[in-house]
Amino acid sequence: MFKTPLDVSGIRDDFPILKRQVNGQDLVYLDNAATSQTPLPVIDAISDYYKHTNANIHRGVHALSQEATDQFEQARQKIQLHFNAAHAHEIILTSGTTHAINLVASGFTSLVEKGDELIVSALEHHANIVPWQMLCERTGAKLLVIPMTENGTLDMEAYKQLLSSRTKVVFVNHVSNALGIINPIESIISQAHAVGAAVLIDGAQATPHMVPDVQALDVEFYTTSAHKICGPTGIGMLYGKEEWLRKLPPYQGGGEMIDQVTFEKTTYADLPHKFEAGTPNIAGGVGFGAAIDYMQGIGFDAIAAHENDLLQHATEKLKHIEGLHIYGDVAHKVAVISFNIAGIHPYDIGTLLDKMGIAVRTGHHCCQPIMDYYQIPGTIRASFAFYNTHEEVERFVAGVEKAVDMLR
Ligand code: ALA
Repeated sequence: MFKTPLDVSGIRDDFPILKRQVNGQDLVYLDNAATSQTPLPVIDAISDYYKHTNANIHRGVHALSQEATDQFEQARQKIQLHFNAAHAHEIILTSGTTHAINLVASGFTSLVEKGDELIVSALEHHANIVPWQMLCERTGAKLLVIPMTENGTLDMEAYKQLLSSRTKVVFVNHVSNALGIINPIESIISQAHAVGAAVLIDGAQATPHMVPDVQALDVEFYTTSAHKICGPTGIGMLYGKEEWLRKLPPYQGGGEMIDQVTFEKTTYADLPHKFEAGTPNIAGGVGFGAAIDYMQGIGFDAIAAHENDLLQHATEKLKHIEGLHIYGDVAHKVAVISFNIAGIHPYDIGTLLDKMGIAVRTGHHCCQPIMDYYQIPGTIRASFAFYNTHEEVERFVAGVEKAVDMLR
């Protein structure tokens, strides 16, 4: 029924964790939107770094320090090439997407004032809402919201009406973590530019499934976290157009981000170091680079095709379950299914699935405004990766059916 060019069985050999059991059952891991699993080449890259290279970077003349610096900077270049940034110094290595967004929102304190407007979408993760609310509290700028519609898509007509010469920044996710919907970011970006606003795209949920080209998008800022794309936790990136990174002040002060320090005045290092105070997550950076190599080796076209097969398979099967409702059931989405079953709390389904060895996420997914819109406490979210199989889809659907039988 479903054809895939991927050797999924061979790929699964790269992921030792997928062979483990949970509650006496073979693990079915469908919480990839929360964090993806880590393949051996990434684990080995991190382990090799600690075994053979570990040193602090940009600081020593000794061999280990230089090798560690080279590995960290090579990872930055891999990230630059992957996302097609014009310069390696436009890639700031952060602890993740949350850190990256906070860095930008904090920097805008000196660039916005009372009466200015910022536009967020109704589909955002709290990480792309709260830092901007804090900016509004600091500056008196106003936060406007692009509303969502019943099928989970954004109301683009309303967006058009919100834009004006007062708009300073628009921040929207590329893919909704709660629903999996792919937002029309090309149109969002070009309309924002038409009124002179900058745009930040939270790409945490898009980058596991596609390769954004930041120059083609012409976006000011794009962020992601390595652990969503088979890399380690605690490392991520902020892409920023050079002119915008120069406009923003440093986020944190400390070592590495300075040029000269005296008690009278400190001058700052050039990009990217101006935004990388303190010892960075060096092993994490090396792992991030290895994860990009790994994903590229598999190929994003093949990844998208296989994940789309899994999505269609699971969606069709789930729809046969009485009372099951999928939120954001539209064509333009990644392999994420957020759903509820009439009369049953999502947490109860999630708990029973866990007893069957099936890992899904339940709750508000850090998107309380979406849950408020639908007037629900949360959803059950199954999120698929390229290493998931059709057999796992079958086990998942059978698990949901069994849980429903037990709870009804
Ligand atoms: N933001 C992550 C998720 O959607 C943690 O699960």
